[in-house]
Parts: sequence; C-alpha cells; structure tokens
Amino acid sequence: MAILPILETPDPILRTISKPVTAFDATLKQLAADMIDTMYDAPGIGLAAVQVGVPLRMLVIDLQEPDPADESGETIVKNPRIFVNPVFSEPSAATNIYSEGCLSVPEQYADVVRPAQITVDWQDLDGKPHRERMDGLMATCIQHEHDHLEGILFIDHLSRLKRDMLLKKLHKMRRVA
Ligand code: NI
Repeated sequence: MAILPILETPDPILRTISKPVTAFDATLKQLAADMIDTMYDAPGIGLAAVQVGVPLRMLVIDLQEPDPADESGETIVKNPRIFVNPVFSEPSAATNIYSEGCLSVPEQYADVVRPAQITVDWQDLDGKPHRERMDGLMATCIQHEHDHLEGILFIDHLSRLKRDMLLKKLHKMRRVA
C-alpha cells in the first residue's frame, strides 16, 4: 500500500496525453492498487494515472455510495473499479449537470454539463475487454477522469470568466495555507 503524491494545476504533466497501456503486468497492478489507496486517502471518487505522474491510460473510480441496507446512510460500500484504455461511444443527447471537483484543482467546484449516458469499452488489469452503458454520477465521473487522459481539466469546460475566478480562489487558498 502506498499513497502517491497528487499533481496539481498548473503542473504541465497534467496537460500531457496519456499513452495506451500495453503491458498488463505486476507493475500495472501495483500502480492500480496504489491509485486506489491514494483516491481513498485524498479522499476522492476518481483518479487518473496521470494525476500521480504516470501518463498511462488507466483510471480508478469508486463512487463510495451509502449502503442501501443501512437506513442511517452512514455505511459506505467500497467498490473500487479499474478502467484500462477506456474508449467512449454513443454519448446521449440528454445531458446532466454536476458540480464537479478535482483532486488536481483542490477544493474548487463548478457546474459542468456532460452527456447523461455513455457507452464505455475498457480492459481490466488482465487485458480482458468489457463494455457497459453508464449513467448518473458514474457517467459524469468517468467522463471527468477520461478527460485527464487527454490532458483536459474540468475547469477547461468553464467560461473564461468562471475559470479565472476559480483559479484566483485556488491561488488565494494556497497563499493562506
Ligand atoms: Ni479530476
């Protein structure tokens, strides 16, 4: 188990385009395990490999939703999912708006519009292919994480005015921290 340092904007590595994973080996499995530990520690619901400085097309997501069997809503179900070389198709015309945040843009949130449903093809850690139609928060989250593989941050989806305001707030927060 290892907690990896998370890169933050404006680190230029976050702007690189990640390379496809070709070696489904022990190193990849270790990276995935460390990314999951890092995501829980942050805490966050998703992390792309490039955010820990490894520009490979791999993401981890765990929405960490409350257990429906527990009425208090305090029990969180852990279900970490790993997506290697994810590819999207058939984005819905219908859209969803979520207030998004990002571990690489700490403590800043803004509404982002994305397709409400999307089909995702990916490989697991053994290279086995999978396909699933995603919706809700999962669809939003995987699109946000996939953006990282293209060097895109959620703030790039905002108007220039909104983005500048958010970056100013981030700068201010860092100065007092
Ligand atoms: Ni992010």
